[in-house]
Amino acid sequence: MDKFVIEGPARLEGEVAVSGAKNAALPCLAATLLTAEAVRLTNLPQVADVRTMQKVLGHVGARVEAEPDTITVAVPEIVSADAPYELVKTMRASVLVLGPLLARAGSVRVSLPGGCAIGVRPIDFHLAAFRKLGAEVSLQHGYVEAKASRLRGADIVFETVTVTGTENAMLAATLADGTTRLVNAAREPEVADLARLLVEMGARIEGAGTDRIVIEGVQTLHGADHEVVPDRIEAGTYAIAAAATRGDVAVRLCRPEHLRALTTRLESIGAHVAPDGDVLRVRAEGTLPAQDVATAPYPGFPTDLQAQWTALATGLDGVSTITETIFENRFHHVAELVRMGAMIRLEGRWAIVEGCRLTGANVMASDLRASAALVIAGLTAEGPTTIERVYHLDRGYSRMEENLNALGASVRRVT
Ligand code: EPU
Repeated sequence: MDKFVIEGPARLEGEVAVSGAKNAALPCLAATLLTAEAVRLTNLPQVADVRTMQKVLGHVGARVEAEPDTITVAVPEIVSADAPYELVKTMRASVLVLGPLLARAGSVRVSLPGGCAIGVRPIDFHLAAFRKLGAEVSLQHGYVEAKASRLRGADIVFETVTVTGTENAMLAATLADGTTRLVNAAREPEVADLARLLVEMGARIEGAGTDRIVIEGVQTLHGADHEVVPDRIEAGTYAIAAAATRGDVAVRLCRPEHLRALTTRLESIGAHVAPDGDVLRVRAEGTLPAQDVATAPYPGFPTDLQAQWTALATGLDGVSTITETIFENRFHHVAELVRMGAMIRLEGRWAIVEGCRLTGANVMASDLRASAALVIAGLTAEGPTTIERVYHLDRGYSRMEENLNALGASVRRVT
């Protein structure tokens, strides 16, 4: 298992380009199952989760041609409409094949993902949506089995905003008979990006990016060529690292308009934020005041940046409160930050962070965004930090150590 050794403190300065969004690439890859024709996806991030989704598609019968950041997927026929436990346990987003396989093959069997490091994460809203569309859904031996000779459009009201739940319902409804209306749908840019691909494939979808999505089912979909939207979480991670290290970083190839909740908070702590086309420049110096943050569905502050903000908050002057409203257990990074000298108290969904100086230590990554938080902490800490289990980081960040070193940090991967 690889480790990172970071020599801190560092001041990040220069330019970094972000990849396509992992959380858009995964549903877009699942969407390729809806047609027999080839779908070409460009601007794909080179991360482990994308490789896992390729394996899932290969298992189902897809022919995949992969170049560094481009993939062409053709699924002339569904060989096996299932996703086994071995694949789903390494990446819960494998459940995104449920919707497309149900719509195209009429039956599907996917392992239930179970809990993960950040919470219980059930998929009951996905299953309720499939039932509304007329599928018979059952749970057998740890697997979800769903069947429907033909799906029928329906009105689906989500109890809670769910990103992959909205995507799964949208994927299934594209080939249903009649109209489907998704109410309280997720508004994340990744949902809108998936809808864009589906429309390019011949689907009829309106309202993606709002909380009300209307899908007119069509008989078949066709091939398409689609560029995946830039990764706002990767961009946000570098923006936070720039502020935490009191650096000056231009984050390139991003969409600053997808990061307003973050940039507003960065401005409140006195960082200079300059969006210019597809570049977001973040610069900070000196003592910066504490700032409270609460996560919320898009366009609110992303839960996927909560851990990184917590790392930044350890270096702010005063007491910041971080409220996690999306996941019940997304504070595993806190115990590790405390090992680095952070003063953080946890009370349920709140982390109360008192600013101080961090010192390097041996710490352990527990999930993807927690790993990113530890990297940011390591960059600001005095002395060396060793982060174990960076395979969590590799699931969603491409070449992070190279990017940080190009910005003036000293991050070494030890294999
Ligand atoms: N929920 C349910 N039942 C469901 C679905 C969701 O109770 O059927 C709950 C969840 O347990 C959670 C809340 O609803 O408490 C919201 O979860 P959501 O379904 O929106 O999360 P997700 O779709 O499983 C995606 C991202 C996550 C990101 C969340 C929230 C992908 C592949 N994953 O997960 O990304 O944190 O939305 O924005 O898009 C990451 O990239 O590190 C990551 C975890």
